[in-house]
Amino acid sequence: MTEVKKLFVKTYGCQMNVYDSERMAEALGAKGYVTTDVVEEADMVLLNTCHIREKASEKLYSDLGRLRGLKAAKPGLKVGVAGCVAQAEGAEILRRSPVVDLVVGPQAYHRLPAMVEAGGRMVDTDFPVEDKFGQLPERKSLRGPTAFLTVQEGCDKFCAFCVVPYTRGSEVSRPVARLLDEARGLVAQGVREITLLGQNVNAYHGEGPGGVWGLARLLRELATIDGLARLRYTTSHPNDMEDDLIAAHGDLPQLMPYLHLPVQSGSDRILKSMNRKHTAEQYLRLIDRIRAARPDILLSSDFIVGFPGETDADHQATLDLIRAVGFGAAFSFKYSARPGTPAAEKAPVAADIADARLQELQTLITAQQRAAQDAMVGREVQVLYEKPGRRDGQMVGKSDHQHAVHVLHPEGQVGQLMRVRITGSVTNSLAGELLSTTL
Ligand code: SAH
Ligand code: SF4
Ligand code: F3S
Repeated sequence: MTEVKKLFVKTYGCQMNVYDSERMAEALGAKGYVTTDVVEEADMVLLNTCHIREKASEKLYSDLGRLRGLKAAKPGLKVGVAGCVAQAEGAEILRRSPVVDLVVGPQAYHRLPAMVEAGGRMVDTDFPVEDKFGQLPERKSLRGPTAFLTVQEGCDKFCAFCVVPYTRGSEVSRPVARLLDEARGLVAQGVREITLLGQNVNAYHGEGPGGVWGLARLLRELATIDGLARLRYTTSHPNDMEDDLIAAHGDLPQLMPYLHLPVQSGSDRILKSMNRKHTAEQYLRLIDRIRAARPDILLSSDFIVGFPGETDADHQATLDLIRAVGFGAAFSFKYSARPGTPAAEKAPVAADIADARLQELQTLITAQQRAAQDAMVGREVQVLYEKPGRRDGQMVGKSDHQHAVHVLHPEGQVGQLMRVRITGSVTNSLAGELLSTTL
C-alpha cells in the first residue's frame, strides 16, 4: 500500500488556476497524496500563483516567508510553486527562496508527480509537445453541482499591459472529443452547470468531427448532454465575439444570460495604446448585437485605470462608456507595470490620480451592480443550489444571471435547480421564495 501523504494547495489568480489546482491535486492523488485544509499537517505545500499584477506576485513571497518556520520544524516538507509566477520567474524562485523545492509552469504540471518522485530541487517551465491534459488522470474528485472545464489556454492578443501571453504561451485549443468526454464525466458525477474556461475562450478553435469547431458549435454540442442544465464561458475578447456565438445566446436555453466581456477602457486613444484593436464605439455596437439576441443578458467587464498616458478626458470617456452600457458587475484595477510588457516602458500616471479615478469608477460600477440586482426583485428566476445557507433551512445558489440567491427550503438539496421568486435585494445577494418543488 502506498503511504498516505497530505497535500495543501493554495490558489491565487484566475479560474484557470482553480481548474489547474484541482488537476494537480488529482495528479498527485495518484501518487498517494490526499488534500488537507490544514497547512501544518501537510507533507507538501503547493502554491499556484498569479503574475497579473505586482501585488498578486508579491503574495507568493510573503507566503513563502511564512512557510520558512514550518519547514524548519518539518524538514521533509516539500514546497512547490506552480502557476504564472513559476513560469515568469523560473529558477529565480529557487535562488530567492531556499524553502522552495519545485517550480512548475502552467504547461508542465502534468510532469509534477514525476518531479516529486525524483526528489531534489528542480524547475520545469517547458512548453510540452505532448497534450498536457491527455497525460493527467481522469477527473474523479467528489464535487458540487458546478464545475470548470478548460477548453483553451494561452493568448495571442498581446495587450500592452498583460503578462498572460508570456506566462501561458500562445493559444491552444483542446480537441472537441476530449472536452465532450470530460463534460460527460462531470455530468455523470452530478455536475449540472459547466463553465468553459480559456484566457481567450471565445477564440476557441478545436479539432472536431468534420474540421475545426468554434466555441458556438462546441456549446451547441455540450447542450445536448442530458442532465447538463447550464453553460457559461469566460473570459472573452470583444474581437472574437463571432455572429454564431451571439446567435447561441439567443437560441440556446442552457447558455446563461451573463457575459463577461472585458473592455478595459472607454477611450480610443488608450485602447489603441493598449493594443486592444477595437474602439469604444465598436464595443458599444457589439453590446447592441448581443442584447438584440438576448435582451435580458447581464454584462460584466474588467477595467484598468491609470494606464500610462491616461488623461482626465480618457478617464471620463471610460465613465461615459460605463454609463452607456450599464454593467451588472465589473472588476476594476489600478494599472500595474509588469516586467517584459511594452507598457512597462512608459511613464506611469501619478498614484494619487490613479487611486482617485479607481474610486470614482468603482462607485459608478457599484451603483450599476446594485441597480441590476434590485431590478430582479419580483422576477421569477431559476436557482441552482450550491450549499446550505447560514440560516436554518436555507439554501444558497446562483440565478441564471449569476446573482447569489438565498432561499428558505428546509428539504432543499445541493444540486437542485428550483424556480424562485425574488423578494428582496441586499448588498451582495438576493432573497427568494420557492415557487415549485418540481423542475
Ligand atoms: N484573458 C482575460 C484575463 C486577463 S487578466 C481577458 O482578456 O480579460 C484579467 C484582468 O486583469 C484583465 O482583463 C485586466 O483588466 C487586468 N489586468 C491585466 N494586466 C494588468 C496590469 N498590468 N495591471 C492592472 N490590471 C491588469
Ligand atoms: Fe491579456 Fe489581452 Fe490576452 Fe486578455 S486578451 S489575456 S488582457 S493579452
Ligand atoms: Fe494570473 Fe496567470 Fe490567471 S497571471 S490571472 S493566474 S493566467
